Amino acid sequence: METKFSIIKDVKEDEEKIREAAEFIKNGGTVVFPTETVYGLGADALNETAVEKIFKAKGRPQDNPLIIHVASKNIEPYVMEIPEVANKLINKFWPGPLTIILRKKGIIPNVTSADLNSIGIRMPDNEIARKLIELSNTTIAAPSANISGRPSPTDFQRCVEDLDGKVDCILGGAQSDVGVESTIVDCTVVPPIVLRPGGITLEMLKEIDSSIEIDKAIMEKPREGLKPKAPGMKYKHYAPNAKVTIISGERKKTIEKIKEMVHYNIEKGKNVCILTVEENVNEYTEGDCIVMGSIFNLATVAKSLFEALRKCDDLNADLILAEGYKEEGLGIAIMNRLNKAAGFDIIDV
Ligand code: TXA
Ligand code: MG
Repeated sequence: METKFSIIKDVKEDEEKIREAAEFIKNGGTVVFPTETVYGLGADALNETAVEKIFKAKGRPQDNPLIIHVASKNIEPYVMEIPEVANKLINKFWPGPLTIILRKKGIIPNVTSADLNSIGIRMPDNEIARKLIELSNTTIAAPSANISGRPSPTDFQRCVEDLDGKVDCILGGAQSDVGVESTIVDCTVVPPIVLRPGGITLEMLKEIDSSIEIDKAIMEKPREGLKPKAPGMKYKHYAPNAKVTIISGERKKTIEKIKEMVHYNIEKGKNVCILTVEENVNEYTEGDCIVMGSIFNLATVAKSLFEALRKCDDLNADLILAEGYKEEGLGIAIMNRLNKAAGFDIIDV
């Protein structure tokens, strides 16, 4: 299929282009669009055949439910009930990188929710995304706009790389600010539980309701036969072509271990990439360093993480060595994505 590309510089000035994209959604087509977390691959969430096209374009397993995106906080048309805690979270964090899981109404087709009786909903904090939803006059189901298994795209070019010819339209905007997918909180259970860590940290959630817990399984290697609460968490994710290993621990020891591994692998003729931060980059004398940001500002690391993984592929890396992060604040989301990219291959030093 022929894919239409549109770059949006200004939501007001380029409204016509967004309107054209909305026409594709209204006619049951697929549109890639920017959000503040990662780019999304959208279709009318209420139209079964449209939603099926998302699964096909991504090569996504049918049992992995989609998140629906709204342009207003009025979600009553889509969910059975809105518990008090969900209301509080919506009022505090929407629009923003937070997905809330609630019991769905029958208007949401089973393909969209992958036969679950719940649905994940979020209101993105990106004007292009919200305008597209508004003009489409529906709610838009959208997973990350990558081929299943690859790192999520945080800019227009990466979406083109994965989905040119597979979707009706790709809207380009700025690079995604947050860089990792939304935090998911399941509000169908008491206490509410975080199923995927993201830009809204556990600490921020606990300020709203201290009973909110994080699903322990998030940071552990998935065990054989264990059924995760977010079906998507069981799949191989964010995987570049190269093997990824995380080296975690005290700073000096981490750097020493990485240097030793880089040297050993380069001697064996391998291409080695190091995922590092500006404070550490000068310590390395061999290997291709990719600087993700600053250790003192984890938002910069989260923002460039997926792009860094894709760059390693561009550099034909055989091996990627990533420095580990403390599992607190945004570090939880960063380590969750790194762990999955690495298939939980961690060396503790
Ligand atoms: O930031 C984001 O959330 C991005 C942008 C595009 O909005 N979207 C995104 O969608 O990351 P996706 O499909 O790549 O990830 C959705 C995750 C999957 O792990 C899925 O299993 C889980 O959310 N999920 C969706 N609905 C669920 C439900 N009803 N119950 C449990 N988990 C659910
Ligand atoms: Mg995804």
